[in-house]
Amino acid sequence: KKILFVASEAVPFMKTGGLADVVGSLPKCFDKEKYDVRVMIPKYMCMSDVYKSQMQYKTHFYMDLAWRRQYVGVLEMEYDGVRFYFIDNEFYLSGPRPYEAVNRDIEKFAFFCKASLSALPSLNFQPDIIHCHDWQTGLIPVYLKDVFQNDSFYRNIKSIFTIHNLKFQGIWDVKTVKDITGLSSYYFAPDKLEAYGDANYLKGGIVYSDMITTVSNTYAQEIKMPFYGEGLDGLINARAGYLRGIVNGIDYKEYNPETDSFIVKTYNAKNFRKEKIKNKRALQEELGLEINDKKFMIGIVSRLTEQKGFDLVDCIMDELCQEDIQIVVLGNGDEKYENMFRHYNWKYPNKISANIYYSEALSHKIYASVDTFLMPSLFEPCGLSQLMSLRYGTVPIVRETGGLKDTVEPYNEFESTGTGFSFANYNAHEMLSTIRYARDIFVNKKREWNKIIDRAMEVDFSWNASARKYEEIYDFL
Ligand code: ADP
Ligand code: GLC
Repeated sequence: KKILFVASEAVPFMKTGGLADVVGSLPKCFDKEKYDVRVMIPKYMCMSDVYKSQMQYKTHFYMDLAWRRQYVGVLEMEYDGVRFYFIDNEFYLSGPRPYEAVNRDIEKFAFFCKASLSALPSLNFQPDIIHCHDWQTGLIPVYLKDVFQNDSFYRNIKSIFTIHNLKFQGIWDVKTVKDITGLSSYYFAPDKLEAYGDANYLKGGIVYSDMITTVSNTYAQEIKMPFYGEGLDGLINARAGYLRGIVNGIDYKEYNPETDSFIVKTYNAKNFRKEKIKNKRALQEELGLEINDKKFMIGIVSRLTEQKGFDLVDCIMDELCQEDIQIVVLGNGDEKYENMFRHYNWKYPNKISANIYYSEALSHKIYASVDTFLMPSLFEPCGLSQLMSLRYGTVPIVRETGGLKDTVEPYNEFESTGTGFSFANYNAHEMLSTIRYARDIFVNKKREWNKIIDRAMEVDFSWNASARKYEEIYDFL
């Protein structure tokens, strides 16, 4: 079968979060004999020249988008055995970042959706299934059922929509969206694209796709409830028969402590007891923290947004800093949380290192160096950072929500099981006592702690199992 992934980002070309990891790594993992999987993303001007210079011009044409007539260029590049297509248009894609103000993105991604579909005949690629990801591609299933239905090339193409994050929906007023997309009034009704009086791209994707997936089982259940449903829980319930949760994996070649070129000392499940600590010492030195094996070192690598649970951290930071710990933060995002971590860095310079930027290299060093990785998310569709931590033998502390619940097995001291620590409620002191409990094991029961690491490094969150589940859906459609 022929499958086309369409998304707004993919590693290594453009990444702002886990979506890019998934779209860049999953296509490699399908059975090549049976599935021809290709990927289409925008060609942002702000992509690295390293990749832009390797892309090859494929074709171009002009496309009607409502009353506008727009240039669509298509470039191509093979990467790691997967064919990537890039949609080019300087008017929409020359911003300093992939995402801009919502009103611009609304038009940008309407263009991208229609252009992706329009490009297929000239690429001579007629997919059986288009696999769409997140709100930026929500109009693809809609367009497929609309203008493209009249064209026999498109008539039998099925669509799958994967929700990576229900929070972002692509919402704008109906009048403008009608004008931008060229879709008729028929679509702007509450059983179609309209939600709470506005047009909603994500809703379009959920309503019109043939199958819906999300990135963990627990999240698939959670979004049926108002607390996690972001206003769309009614719709999710109505379409529950077409919804499946498939947990994400990570690229086990890219994230491999045995071969990682970003880290000071490589190690594996057998020798981590001696070798992993060398990374910790190097990181302490690099960040100007006390070089001391005994400090319980807590790591955070994250987008700094409300989703990630940093309000809990804010609440107990002063208490936490009374303990013998070190905290390393790498992240950027909302100013509120950036400044919060800068503030604590200033207040506790010997305990906290706040690195408010994006760095692939430092992220790998943190996964390899710290003792524990903290992820107290308010909600978490899947989460990849905890999987990276497990892979590097870094013990995760998570809140039991979404993918965090499905991938981290809580430590049980009586049965000697578990790969990490977790707490149930969105409560700062519940989190604090979980951190204290973990620290107690680290300090006083080192052998137990190392056995947790043994188990963490043993679990398998490569794409193997989950790619087979997507294949089942591809076969079924
Ligand atoms: P989300 O997609 O919600 O941001 P995930 O856990 O699924 O969360 O994925 C986050 C990805 O982004 C991981 O690969 C993580 O290492 C990476 N990441 C987040 N912030 C940074 C940063 N400041 N520097 C480098 N990598 C980051
Ligand atoms: C989203 C979610 C995250 C998930 C990622 C990849 O960004 O916030 O939980 O892991 O998508 O699916």
